[in-house]
Amino acid sequence: MLKKIGETRKSFDEDLSKANDLASLEELRIKYLGRKGLVSQLFDSLQDVPKEEKRNVGQVLNELKLHTQSKFDELKNKFDKEKVSSESYIDLTLPGRKREVGSKHILIQTLDEIKEIFKGWGFSVYEGPELESDYYNFGALNFPADHPARDMQDTFFVSEDFLLRTHTSPVQIRLMEQKKPPIRALMPGKVFRNEAISAKSYCLFHQVEGLVVDTDITFAELKGTLVAFVKQFYGKDVPYRFRASFFPFTEPSAEMDVWWQPKGKEGRWLEILGCGMVDPNVLTNVGIDPEKYVGYAFGMGIERTAMRKYGIDDIRILFDNDKRFLTQF
Ligand code: DAH
Repeated sequence: MLKKIGETRKSFDEDLSKANDLASLEELRIKYLGRKGLVSQLFDSLQDVPKEEKRNVGQVLNELKLHTQSKFDELKNKFDKEKVSSESYIDLTLPGRKREVGSKHILIQTLDEIKEIFKGWGFSVYEGPELESDYYNFGALNFPADHPARDMQDTFFVSEDFLLRTHTSPVQIRLMEQKKPPIRALMPGKVFRNEAISAKSYCLFHQVEGLVVDTDITFAELKGTLVAFVKQFYGKDVPYRFRASFFPFTEPSAEMDVWWQPKGKEGRWLEILGCGMVDPNVLTNVGIDPEKYVGYAFGMGIERTAMRKYGIDDIRILFDNDKRFLTQF
């Protein structure tokens, strides 16, 4: 029995010196220290040892048990530590991860600037839905059912009665249905048209609508406000002009142009907005008495405004998501 114990100790020491990772160490544990391992087996056979020798053999066996357990623990500890430090190893030669900071899109920046100017004049900002009914987009704005003005605003119909709004003017209607004069409102948002896509036109763009309704509003106030706006926005020497125009929801109607001189190219007039005095029919449609109240309205394209201001010559680049362009602003 003593011989057997000695042999087991020797083979344990040999196996231990060969264990070089956690897996082989686990094999070793099962072989010697497990419930049916060699050390347990030796304890089992202790009962066959003659009584006089039992004490001595038992002592040697206990020593073996302590020896194997403590050697195993020692090595296991060492491997565990190595594992932790290899997992938290930091490679200082790797390039760092750069965190890129985003910025506001140039269209949003332009819109913010426009809002700031009008807010200073007492305008509040409102928004309306991009999916509109035919009534809000056309009917309530005095477009008769088969009027050719609708053709200029062909859009994407979702059903017979619902469409992607072609302008922000329907927000005027939604607002006047809920809020009675005096009104001074700015209404920005996305609009959609079924356009042939080119450097000048895109199927999606942004507008900002303006609406003022009160008892003593005149065309002179409309003109004065818009002139003050272009001077503040583009600079006080900007050349501008008004042209007579037609919109079903205003009477009289006009369009405003500013002079555009792209670098190295011939200058030209650029239309930036439509405007006019709110048609009495529109006021009647929302239950406001046209005998008592007068209003003016305007609708401005944000893309063109930004293009004119920042010298951008192709509208499509505003929607391309090309970082080389976006990071310039
Ligand atoms: N909604 C018109 C368009 O998209 C622009 C416009 C013209 C808006 C005159 C107005 C306005 O509020 O009074 O072409």
